[in-house]
Amino acid sequence: MKTKLLSLLVCGTFLFYYSCKKDAVVADADLMVTETVDNLTPVIGTNITFTIVAKNNGPGDATGVDVTDNLPTGYMLVSSTATIGTVGNRAWTIGSLKIGATATLTMVVTVLPTGIYPHSVSILGSETDPSTLNNSALVTVVPVNPKVDLALTQTVNNSAPVVGTDVTFKITVKNNGTIEASGVTVSNSLPSGYTFVSATPSAGSWTAPTWTIGKLAGGASIDMSVVAKVNASGSYANTATVTGTEADSNTANNTATTTTVPVPAVTAKVTYDKDIKPLLTTSCTPCHVAGGSQPNHWDVYATTKSNINAIIDRTGRAQGSGGFMPNGGTKLSASDLALLSQWVTDGLLEK
Ligand code: HEC
Repeated sequence: MKTKLLSLLVCGTFLFYYSCKKDAVVADADLMVTETVDNLTPVIGTNITFTIVAKNNGPGDATGVDVTDNLPTGYMLVSSTATIGTVGNRAWTIGSLKIGATATLTMVVTVLPTGIYPHSVSILGSETDPSTLNNSALVTVVPVNPKVDLALTQTVNNSAPVVGTDVTFKITVKNNGTIEASGVTVSNSLPSGYTFVSATPSAGSWTAPTWTIGKLAGGASIDMSVVAKVNASGSYANTATVTGTEADSNTANNTATTTTVPVPAVTAKVTYDKDIKPLLTTSCTPCHVAGGSQPNHWDVYATTKSNINAIIDRTGRAQGSGGFMPNGGTKLSASDLALLSQWVTDGLLEK
């Protein structure tokens, strides 16, 4: 009541009847515009989509609503679609927008190699807008250059493997570029220090010595495990190289080499106590042991050691020939003869 009275009083006092009447009928309308893009770092030459949403926050309905949209020089328009209104050159004419209503403009554009990329839009209507802070929006896209950069890395699960065991090389290929690479292949010829066992690619196919990958998206990576047996000798530097169809922006990372330093297989050395004494006491009894007919006894370490050349000579002779030992017996087996030689090689150890 008090407000009404005051209003009447003010209007009456200043005689601004029409002005007071207009204020009472036409309410303010707070128009708002927002803008988003589906990719803030698109590759030059690709398409992106701007979504522009106009909204009337009230308190009254809005008329004569226009959105100004100056597409900057960094883009080429592909298509624009509005849920309401008509889209013209640099302007989206919405017309009426009721309280709470929204209208959406979807613009597909191609990102050009050069030009201005910050994209701003603004909204305006016929009514008084109580808040103009939300009447414009800006999206700043930062385009990236299209490029392919294939990078290869390689690791091995054991850099000091024992000869005769398996090692696993892991080869990883990544496309550090922004666009898909095609015709990607990795060449991996194992050097002479290894014998190929198996290759397991996470994708693509392996036909020695080539891992055929094909396409690899920008940012994507794949790997392959190669199992190899370590040979006793040869070259142990394993090199793998990746190549693709497109020009590679950085060829310094296309090759990687992993080198192992194998250690010899540990085999127990031949000793008198463990190997030689049991062999000779079995084959040379009763003549060359304590109480035997012969002066030299092979159940004594020192005696056996000092006569080893004669022992090898006599046991190496043909069965039944002159001086052949064991006298009147059967020739020692090849492995027993090898054991006698290996004892010399290993240093004639007692224990
Ligand atoms: C049945 C008895 C007999 C047996 C078993 C026998 N020897 Fe003899 N060994 C002899 C006689 C006898 C001589 C001496 C004659 C000669 O030098 O050919 C001899 C001599 C040797 C000599 C040269 C002389 C010396 O003492 O260095 C060697 C070495 C020898 N034997 C090694 C062996 C070895 C090794 C075995 C077992 C693998 C063996 N003998 C088994 C009877 C035997």
